[in-house]
Amino acid sequence: MIEEKLGAPVGTALDRFIARRQEEFPFASGELSQLLRDIALASKIINREINRAGLAGIEGQADRENVQGEIQQKLDIASNIRFKRALMYGGETCAILSEEEADPIITDEAGAKYIVAIDPLDGSSNIDVNVSVGTIFSIYRRQSMAGAKLTPSELLQPGREQVAAGYILYGSSTMLVYTTGYGVNGFTLEPSLGEYFLSHPDMRMEANGSIYSINDGLYDQFSPGLVSYIQTCRKRGYKARYIGSLVADIHRNLLKGGIFIYPGTPSHPNGKLRLLYEGNPMAFLIEQAGGLASDGEGRIMDIGPSEIHQRTPLIIGSKVMVEELLEMLKEA
Ligand code: AHG
Ligand code: MN
Ligand code: MN
Repeated sequence: MIEEKLGAPVGTALDRFIARRQEEFPFASGELSQLLRDIALASKIINREINRAGLAGIEGQADRENVQGEIQQKLDIASNIRFKRALMYGGETCAILSEEEADPIITDEAGAKYIVAIDPLDGSSNIDVNVSVGTIFSIYRRQSMAGAKLTPSELLQPGREQVAAGYILYGSSTMLVYTTGYGVNGFTLEPSLGEYFLSHPDMRMEANGSIYSINDGLYDQFSPGLVSYIQTCRKRGYKARYIGSLVADIHRNLLKGGIFIYPGTPSHPNGKLRLLYEGNPMAFLIEQAGGLASDGEGRIMDIGPSEIHQRTPLIIGSKVMVEELLEMLKEA
């Protein structure tokens, strides 16, 4: 019927989805909903800047390093400014832990409930070659009373205390994927409307898979157990897929099944990825979708952080694949 064609519904907008989910929490006061909206708005601004980076002269390296000792890309700085501003002036965040900031930012919102850890731009080395990049966020509830001075320990809560986590993938389409502990939902940005619409409801990860993602350049530094796992993947004819942007690699594995590994090595025993704004949020999402996330010994979300930029080895993805690798690491 012509009406069906012409009147096809556009789907559930993110705002409506957040509002509906809030109704399911009788005690929800709307602050978390507003915080998620603030993050979504900042992501639309970044999306616009990423899509025109080459034209806006904001590609390439800035002339400074971040606390990680990594050369910052101009878009690292631009993304950090945008998300900091959205969080500081959104009114719902009392502290921000950013990859691009040496120290925690304590906002003027002393009464705000939430602490946000953020990787404003993930995979930034890929910006100049037009490969997908992302933003990763992790949200905790403050433990002290509203208005009280924040304690160092509440800025370093284990991942299992997260109230929400997600990522934005600035790819061939821009997607926002997040969880509040009740499953994982994916939204695709409709640029002509500037709105995110529900495109991947209740995302579930395959229990098994045949994609493995690891930086093969580190092969000579892999532990014997990891070598035997990679050799097993090769013998089985699994696909090796590694984009070099954590958000893009995890998103593909979430959709198709697979395992992502960033191991510790003799020169970097804790690997490269940061616990608070890469490991924990991805672990929350993947566990909510039915997968597993480990540092090779224990559950990522059970690690008690000791400092905001600490690194962790990361083994994350389909349950059967992660369990098989952990078994091999134990046996080696
Ligand atoms: P960031 O750009 O936020 O520093 O993150 C880059 C990370 C992650 O996105 C990716 O999985 C990893 O670096 C790739 O590291 P290698 O280039 O060492 O493989
Ligand atoms: Mn990153
Ligand atoms: Mn980053």
